[in-house]
Amino acid sequence: MSASRNQGGCGCCGGIFSLGISALFMWLWIHTSNPKCSIQTLSLPSLSSASNLTADPTLSLTLRLVNPNQLKGIKYDPLNVTVYDFPNKSNVIGNILMPGFYQGHRKKATKPGQGTANTTVALRAVSENGTGVFRVDMATAVKFKTLYGYSKRHQIRIGADVVVNASGVKVDRKGIRLRSMAPKMGNSCVVLLGALFNFLLFALLDFW
Ligand SMILES: *[C@@H]1O[C@H](CO)[C@@H](O)[C@H](O)[C@H]1NC(C)=O
Ligand SMILES: *[C@@H]1O[C@H](CO)[C@@H](O)[C@H](O)[C@H]1NC(C)=O
Ligand SMILES: *[C@@H]1O[C@H](CO)[C@@H](O)[C@H](O)[C@H]1NC(C)=O
Ligand SMILES: *[C@@H]1O[C@H](CO)[C@@H](O)[C@H](O)[C@H]1NC(C)=O
Repeated sequence: MSASRNQGGCGCCGGIFSLGISALFMWLWIHTSNPKCSIQTLSLPSLSSASNLTADPTLSLTLRLVNPNQLKGIKYDPLNVTVYDFPNKSNVIGNILMPGFYQGHRKKATKPGQGTANTTVALRAVSENGTGVFRVDMATAVKFKTLYGYSKRHQIRIGADVVVNASGVKVDRKGIRLRSMAPKMGNSCVVLLGALFNFLLFALLDFW
């Protein structure tokens, strides 16, 4: 009698354990993070005094894109990067369009891009000592890939202020994280769901 009761208890434990695992996978499944994007390099050679005569209008930058999702790939539409003269975006210095691509789960990518700068606007934006603060915005749309196929498109609009020195090069050695300008409603919903699943998972593990 007691042996069969034990067996019954173990079966129950197993059930609860697999429920916990399911909850964990549900959480990973439902929880979707946008890609993390940062500017690694930015250069505008026309700003260096030595090249003022030649006025090379090349505008180049490197983006680093990280897919933080454990189970989801990301398909990027073309990435539209716009560089403005001031944080208040008075004038556009230049625009860079990078081709879209697919990024597997937990993958990192470094993407270089080039465009043509309006050197008149760029030169007007730097102070006498040669430094300037540009605004860099990036707009794209992504689809998340799961086992069941692609999600619908999610618009992404992020940006950051970038300090540029007298040689027309980004001052910060580290990457500058581009951040969302308007926090979306969806995020708090995801956080709430995440908290719910975490609660469920820990309640189950505790019980077990
Ligand atoms: C890129 O973004 C800029 C600024 O928002 C916009 O003016 C331009 O039309 C966009 N280009 C493309 C190809 O979407
Ligand atoms: C933006 O900021 C710059 C520098 O602070 C200033 O000179 C310019 O007038 C501002 N433009 C607008 C439209 O506010
Ligand atoms: C540069 O920008 C200024 C002001 O926005 C504009 O008047 C001028 O036509 C632009 N130059 C070029 C080459 O696009
Ligand atoms: C350059 O000038 C700007 C504004 O005039 C100032 O904020 C910045 O600290 C100066 N930088 C250096 C290195 O002098």
